[in-house]
Amino acid sequence: MLLHLEQVLSTEAVAQCRRVLEGEAWVDGRITAGAQSALAKHNLQVPQDAPAARELGELILTALGRHPQFVSAALPLKVYPPLFNRYDVGMGFGAHVDNAIRFAGAQPYRTDVSATLFLSDPDDYDGGELVVEDAYGEHAVKLPAGDMIIYPATSLHRVEAVTRGSRWAAFFWVQSMVRADAQRSLLYDLDGAIQATAAKLGQSDPAAISLTGAYNNLLRMWSEV
Ligand code: NI
Repeated sequence: MLLHLEQVLSTEAVAQCRRVLEGEAWVDGRITAGAQSALAKHNLQVPQDAPAARELGELILTALGRHPQFVSAALPLKVYPPLFNRYDVGMGFGAHVDNAIRFAGAQPYRTDVSATLFLSDPDDYDGGELVVEDAYGEHAVKLPAGDMIIYPATSLHRVEAVTRGSRWAAFFWVQSMVRADAQRSLLYDLDGAIQATAAKLGQSDPAAISLTGAYNNLLRMWSEV
């Protein structure tokens, strides 16, 4: 499931991120790439252990915890501390699939869901689309600053070369309580149906109670915590 989450960060929070990132020492993005994807990767990143990255990462994680659509779609068990990247003119990232396991310090994370949170306004750059492939074809994604895309980490994806301006983003992964994308999608759809039913008929309507029970029993069957 490819899902667009609107306004994860407010305009003020995006401006704060950009202010802090402007003062950072950006380094070659290949420091966090696997051997194969390093060949395709051409961008700049803030080092993972930079205090600014941690501070802004916390801001993003707090915002995500308050975003019901993110929680419903990703069913996060743990969220990798966000990283920050930047593509200037001529930079891009060829087709690759993200590593299955990533470490933050000694802590392993299985990457079930990939996330990109845009920190540049689309008018500020040309190119730089995130292109995600799935069974239905290719999807080119370029979102307003503060918006985020999540997609299955199993997907082949790339970032097109930037031809004008600079594209800044935060990126990270989610280890979900539910490993399989098809199961997460079904739970997300069911959660939406429950919310709609409860809004129409009330939380204590037998239909809402029955659907909520089915949701919990599917989550019990499929989750690992
Ligand atoms: Ni990637």
